Amino acid sequence: MQDILDQLEARRAEARQGGGQRRIDSQHAKGKLTARERLELLLDPGSFEEFDMFVKHRSTDFGMDEQHYPGDGVITGWGTINGRKTFVYAQDFTVFGGSLSETHAQKICKVQRMAMKQGAPIIGLNDSGGARIQEGVAALAGYTDVFQNNIIASGVIPQISVIMGPSAGGAVYSPALTDFIFMVRDTSYMFLTGPDVLKTVTNEVVTAEELGGAKTHTTKSSVADGAFDNDMEALAEIRRLFDFLPLNNREGVPERTFFDKHDRIDNSLDTLVPENPNIPYDMKELVTKIADEGDFFEIQADFAKNMLTGFIRLEGRTIGVVANQPMVLAGCIDSDASRKAARFVRFCDCFSIPLLTLVDVPGFLPGTSQEFGGVIKHGAKLLYAFGEATVPKVTVITRKAYGGAYCVMSPKHLGGDINYAWPTAQIAVMGAKGAVEILHRKELDKPDVIAQKTAEYEDMFLSPFRAAERGYIDEVIQPRSTRKRLTRAFALLKEKNLTNPWKKHDNLPL
Ligand code: HXC
Repeated sequence: MQDILDQLEARRAEARQGGGQRRIDSQHAKGKLTARERLELLLDPGSFEEFDMFVKHRSTDFGMDEQHYPGDGVITGWGTINGRKTFVYAQDFTVFGGSLSETHAQKICKVQRMAMKQGAPIIGLNDSGGARIQEGVAALAGYTDVFQNNIIASGVIPQISVIMGPSAGGAVYSPALTDFIFMVRDTSYMFLTGPDVLKTVTNEVVTAEELGGAKTHTTKSSVADGAFDNDMEALAEIRRLFDFLPLNNREGVPERTFFDKHDRIDNSLDTLVPENPNIPYDMKELVTKIADEGDFFEIQADFAKNMLTGFIRLEGRTIGVVANQPMVLAGCIDSDASRKAARFVRFCDCFSIPLLTLVDVPGFLPGTSQEFGGVIKHGAKLLYAFGEATVPKVTVITRKAYGGAYCVMSPKHLGGDINYAWPTAQIAVMGAKGAVEILHRKELDKPDVIAQKTAEYEDMFLSPFRAAERGYIDEVIQPRSTRKRLTRAFALLKEKNLTNPWKKHDNLPL
């Protein structure tokens, strides 16, 4: 009997060695942790339950029948993060470069299916040379099976991808189909075709980092939602994000103990909006001052900075925040900001995360580059996302809400449940200068008349009261009591139950 037990331990020890000490050392030398070390940091200590540790590939070509590593380059299973269950897979670069074989894919598919059945998120730690070259179409089939599961799981369980090494070729599409992608600076990259192919086909000379590193994907392409300095920071931040997320689309947001007064008054908010309407202020300050313990997990912090998206908690419950940022482009909405916010709103709506919208927007960004780039369609995405979202929606207009941008930023007319404005709000078709220049074009050479008309316009329209008279604003609130008003509003809306009419699925303007 003892022999059999020892044999099991010996087999396990062999599997835990992955591709062997030399390759583990090489992984460390690149500043990367091994797949097992990563899982240890991601999950609660001792909570990891592994599956399929002894799976071996079945390929025989290119001498592969001589090379077997138990587990076949991916470690799969489940564990907990702060006591809440999650499924995981971590590709092991020390085994055939973490490349995906038929059996490697089957292991991932198994945990994907289990995650859907159990209603728990799945987190993939990607570090792979792509399709296992020796396996040909069997590897491609395996990838596509993973993609199909990603698609079916979308909107059912949160799916998070962390890119911790190479992710090249079609392999990028599994992360791209998930809800969030995070990257590690300097050690990870993602591209469809690598630098060598680019050089041959298009004559472009570019490094892997420039083409598909964390900076490129968090600032230019918006493929990734965030980047971290090293594996340890990345995994700690994924744990932090995980705590904000529901386990599935039926469970609702997690509730956790909070240490902040629900009716905390913050007098500094009364002077957050400068007297001069053309001077910017940092909307992030408002977000963190409202949030429980000032905790804000920002999504896509480095892309389309004119729009903020991320998670906070109010009374221990997760809230998705969408906010204009007057510090960048005066808070104007452009195509990138629209796409960024629309995707975030849809994520929140999938998983019953209530939405808080903070508005200070002078309009859509004008310009040929915007029009040629399809701002009409991208802006429509945001309109669509807010309009179809059935989760509790609370909006606060702090200053400008002009023109089409008013219509887009979760107003009453798109099903806003409670819409507040600060006394500094200006809700109008456009700013005073622009309005007077159009209405009194023939009198532009009379500065006195223009000044008087501008003052009249400002008095009449640049306040929250015209909108409040019509009930488009439910109440004008004191800035200092914003947290209190919001906690009460979201508490009221906790049981909101709204369903849109049945349809096979919608036709979002893609
Ligand atoms: C099999 C692979 C492999 C792969 C790497 N290895 N990629 N084995 N299939 N795709 C093996 C190497 O042979 C090596 O084995 C070990 O992994 C480490 O690789 P190195 O090259 O030594 O590491 P490094 O210098 O860090 O370079 C990493 C790399 C490079 C940039 C990922 O290995 C590489 O370019 N690999 C090929 C990438 C690729 O073209 N993949 C196919 C993409 S197309 P030993 O035994 O020496 O440790 C694709 C289609 C998917 O994926 C389509 C889905 C629809």
